[in-house]
Amino acid sequence: RNSSSRSSSLEREKNLMKILLIGDIFGTMGREMIKENLEEIRTKKGIQFIVANGENIAHGNGITNNYYKFLLDNHVNIVTLGNHSFANHDVFNFIDDAKNLIRPLNMPSGVPGKGYVTLKYNQLTVTVFQVMGRTFMSTPLDCPFKKTEELLNSTNSDIYICDFHGEATSEKIAFANYFDGRINIVVGTHTHVQTNDARILPKGTMYMTDLGMTGPLDGIIGVNPTPIIKRFLTGMPVRHIPMETGPKQLNGLIVEINELTHKTTNFEIVNVVK
Ligand code: FE2
Repeated sequence: RNSSSRSSSLEREKNLMKILLIGDIFGTMGREMIKENLEEIRTKKGIQFIVANGENIAHGNGITNNYYKFLLDNHVNIVTLGNHSFANHDVFNFIDDAKNLIRPLNMPSGVPGKGYVTLKYNQLTVTVFQVMGRTFMSTPLDCPFKKTEELLNSTNSDIYICDFHGEATSEKIAFANYFDGRINIVVGTHTHVQTNDARILPKGTMYMTDLGMTGPLDGIIGVNPTPIIKRFLTGMPVRHIPMETGPKQLNGLIVEINELTHKTTNFEIVNVVK
């Protein structure tokens, strides 16, 4: 037995569930960071459950069946999406059959896919769901607050984990405060910039405004800076070119939950740069 499996079985004895949440996995460099680092993090830290945002995994935009399977092969339990859910056409070939893939719950009715999934973990039922913010987002959406209220009222899980995919920090913080004590973990995605505000809110919800991005460290939130700067200077439409060389990062958050009390007992920000 190596030390990692020993520490993980010690945590089992203490009834601690260790969850890793991974920020937007972006393109080739994001996949490389997963391939090269996730196994080590998982075994060293004794991670038992992984939620990852995969809406940018295919060339920085959307997801394919192969990349969804790649994440499951790397022990990701649930893959979340966002405003780029349908950016790669391949998603329509598998989203209806993909048990562990979710898109925002508050997308209008009729949109393919589902907004939450409930899994059994040891003796616990764990519901993972995603909502998308409406501030500074151009997608038509139902109210994330009301949709979440409906979900909490119509399900009965021991643990709720929410990926809030949104641009505005205030909207994410308002959401987390509104549901403080009712959702175990609320973490933000979408901005690709890791925030330094991970904390346990007064009534017990584990909260972090944005997990950050898993992909290129340089560039502008994953893409080559030149066209983006040109757009800011001139307002002209430009093509996004994903960064494919240079340093890489893996961003996320580890949350330790007591399986008996369902309370967060510890957390650790993940920011691996290579
Ligand atoms: Fe997004």
